[in-house]
Amino acid sequence: MQRTHDFIGKNFGSAAGYILERMNNLPDLSTLDDAAALVHRSVPPTPQYAWPLLQGLAGAELWVKHENHTPTGAFKVRGGLTYLEALRRRAPGCAGIVSATRGNHGQSLGFAARRQGLRVTVVVPHGNSVEKNAAMRALGVELVEHGDDFQDAREHAELLATRDRLHMVPSFDADLLLGVASYWLEFLRAVPGLDTVLVPIGLGSGVCSAVLARRALGLRTRIIGVVSQHADAYARAFESHAIAAAPVATQIADGMACRIPDAQAMDIIWRHVDDIVRVDDVAVAEAMGLYYTATHNVAEGAGAAALAAAIKLRDRLRGQRVGVVLSGANVDLDVFTRAVAGNVPACGGRGSALASLRQPS
Ligand SMILES: Cc1ncc(COP(=O)(O)O)c(C=O)c1O
Repeated sequence: MQRTHDFIGKNFGSAAGYILERMNNLPDLSTLDDAAALVHRSVPPTPQYAWPLLQGLAGAELWVKHENHTPTGAFKVRGGLTYLEALRRRAPGCAGIVSATRGNHGQSLGFAARRQGLRVTVVVPHGNSVEKNAAMRALGVELVEHGDDFQDAREHAELLATRDRLHMVPSFDADLLLGVASYWLEFLRAVPGLDTVLVPIGLGSGVCSAVLARRALGLRTRIIGVVSQHADAYARAFESHAIAAAPVATQIADGMACRIPDAQAMDIIWRHVDDIVRVDDVAVAEAMGLYYTATHNVAEGAGAAALAAAIKLRDRLRGQRVGVVLSGANVDLDVFTRAVAGNVPACGGRGSALASLRQPS
């Protein structure tokens, strides 16, 4: 379904359509800058640091974009702000919104909806992160637990949308990408000459907004998506050029636990993303430990996946200027302590990189 609307004074024609159209119809720099200005009214730009203890490990000049330093602890908040601003303009009478999430998207909507005076209902699967659930409730979200996985939660959210006449917020949408692209504008401008960036993929808003920002800034930075080896639907679709469901078994990267790729996201990824790599839970857990030991930042599983991939690809990236996104910090304490202790299912103990950091000097 296509819709015509206006966003911060710009008419995109068909918002759902522009991400499906050819490269020359992707949003231009002034559109992305306007979206970034809206985001920055509520979320200051996050820092990017080249942590000395990470340099040798990746074999590259490694820059970390700290999306763990937003007011919700994850990059998603940026997309919520632009999505709800666009919604306010096209549906001023909207009484409330509903969505499904494993957590960071829900916090984003809670944060943004408060600014618009909108009621928010979020459906999460049973067994969802306790701390993400608590954070959403603290933002005023009405939380509903339903089903065993994200797909079940999404179907229930659609039902609630019809029953209660709520607007259903998707997890992948043009108006989300516009906000998320603001972190890429910050990063790509703050660190000129990035050869390669590594981005975790759940449904694809992070990686697709990297495409938008790279193109708008006229850069040639390579974009590599990162998926969990235990939830690799996007990597399979990238390789086979066909969309199909894949099993989800990751224990620690819930932000990347996607069963079926989004067709619009894949359309952008097929045409503009350079590669997609897989990282397993052991490597992700090790990267969580590394972030803590080398930078004293907490990363959730999805937040550490790009660093895990940089280490995996160290031979390929050697000598390059590389950017990784620490996309979120919202991990339950028990999951974090088990991960940094190397105690993940199928985890045979700490790998060499973390162990080397912990050697007495
Ligand atoms: C911390 C974190 N990183 C990465 C992702 C993946 O983002 P996307 O769904 O935009 O691909 C998510 C998604 O929820 C997330 O929460």
